[in-house]
Amino acid sequence: MSANTAKRGNRLFLKKSIEQVQHESNTHQLKRTLGAWNLVLLGIGCIIGAGIYVMTGNAAANFAGPAVMLSFIVAFFACIFAGLCYAELASTMPVAGSAYTYSYTTLGEVFAWVMGWLLVLEYGVAASTVAAGWSGNVVSLLHNFGMEIPPMLTTSFIQAVPIEGGMTFIQSGGANILGAIGILAVTGLLVLGVSESASVNNVIVAIKVGVLLAFILMGIGFINVENWVPFIPANEGGFKYGLPGIFRAASVIFFAYVGFEAVSTAAAEAKNPQKDIPVGILGSLLVCTIIYMLVAAVLTGVVPFRELGVAAPIALAVDRMGVGWFSILIKVGAVAGLTSVMLILTYGQSRVFYAMAKDGLLPRVFSTLHPKFRTPWIGTIILGMLIAVAAAALPIEILGDLVSLGTATAFLIVCVSVMHLRKARPDLVRPFTAPFGIVTPLLGIFFALVMIAPLMLDIYAKAMAGDLIPATLLGGYLSIGALIYIFYGFWNSRLGKGLPQHEDDSAGPGPMQAQAHGVGEDHG
Ligand code: ALA
Repeated sequence: MSANTAKRGNRLFLKKSIEQVQHESNTHQLKRTLGAWNLVLLGIGCIIGAGIYVMTGNAAANFAGPAVMLSFIVAFFACIFAGLCYAELASTMPVAGSAYTYSYTTLGEVFAWVMGWLLVLEYGVAASTVAAGWSGNVVSLLHNFGMEIPPMLTTSFIQAVPIEGGMTFIQSGGANILGAIGILAVTGLLVLGVSESASVNNVIVAIKVGVLLAFILMGIGFINVENWVPFIPANEGGFKYGLPGIFRAASVIFFAYVGFEAVSTAAAEAKNPQKDIPVGILGSLLVCTIIYMLVAAVLTGVVPFRELGVAAPIALAVDRMGVGWFSILIKVGAVAGLTSVMLILTYGQSRVFYAMAKDGLLPRVFSTLHPKFRTPWIGTIILGMLIAVAAAALPIEILGDLVSLGTATAFLIVCVSVMHLRKARPDLVRPFTAPFGIVTPLLGIFFALVMIAPLMLDIYAKAMAGDLIPATLLGGYLSIGALIYIFYGFWNSRLGKGLPQHEDDSAGPGPMQAQAHGVGEDHG
């Protein structure tokens, strides 16, 4: 190996300096204004979305039956330990780009790239997923007013169909144009610089939680307990029901918790991070888990679980209750809640790409700011179009699995980063340290694997059965990521070229999570 090659090899593991990153974050001068309660609300605002409104139906119908309630507990554990690790890194490096930057400082550039590419699944593909759910709920709402949209304009190009022992994917001939329009509308707002302020977040939280509580309270009267029997349906092969089904369903509804990391990335703005961050994480996750389990109980109690694999299962259940005004109320709330999640996720994605472009790992268009709106507008438009195409082409079942896979892998890397950084830099000031020593990151890694395993096994099993669509999508996605890094990021990385880490920090649109959720804008 030549000296040059060796140097390039090491280059893959070049790390940003933590002190520099800390300095960058100090320049943003975030105020410590958030108490535990603000953080719980922040978390709930980001968490509740298509996961509960849409994916619970698929998880119950195709994998767990009424035992989907247990799946929510498994997924909850997959989040708390990783969440505490996130919080430790976030308190040490409160910066834009979040997990992407943590990897850049702890594990090195190639891991930062991998993390950035995984975050595309966690934010960008998640936005497509929510758009698919949003579209199903809009269709259902319009139906209440006698308006029908042709199915060809609301059915994704690739469609999921149930088969014995699971589901397979076929071409529908349609495209979810409605979902794509939803994303493009949100993209327009983001270009103009619309972001959710903390007070808007509180209103959205009230609507989302209010809708779900109303669904629970009204639905209790319509439960037929026979629908809960058998609680754990006997396995019908593969991941269809039984214990394997509970874990597979957990990996599906893991999506319902995505977004809680917003709490940990607000560590720089917490009044008392050591106490408030764990309360914020555990509090928002616990509140959501309880609500989710109750919603799942009502859903599977009102509608036999095998009928729940539809685009808008909650809407189906309220229609079965037969109370017209209530049905409209719930659907309006669902559409409003899902719109806010599309906005948050698309925003988050544009800011991850912004951070990567500032580091030279992506073309500069992603960090070029609009002279008036101060938003990375070209990048946001390109992203919006890609997210819209994915929403039009792919079914929520595939999109959601990709999100869960990417997010669980990102969690795993975050837990590894915590262990690595504790060893490599014990001297760093950590305003928040995850409790129980090495046990918390290890449990985080274990539960991330519990999420990843059923997803990978399912993709493998489908490929073996001749359904190559999920494997091709995943392989294609990973290959594109690798090619962009090999042919662009590696050669243009500012760190690799020995250039200052950021050209002009004062020009940025501000820290990602802080702006994404308006934290600090009108607190305090
Ligand atoms: N957790 C968010 C949702 O369920 C992403 O929509």
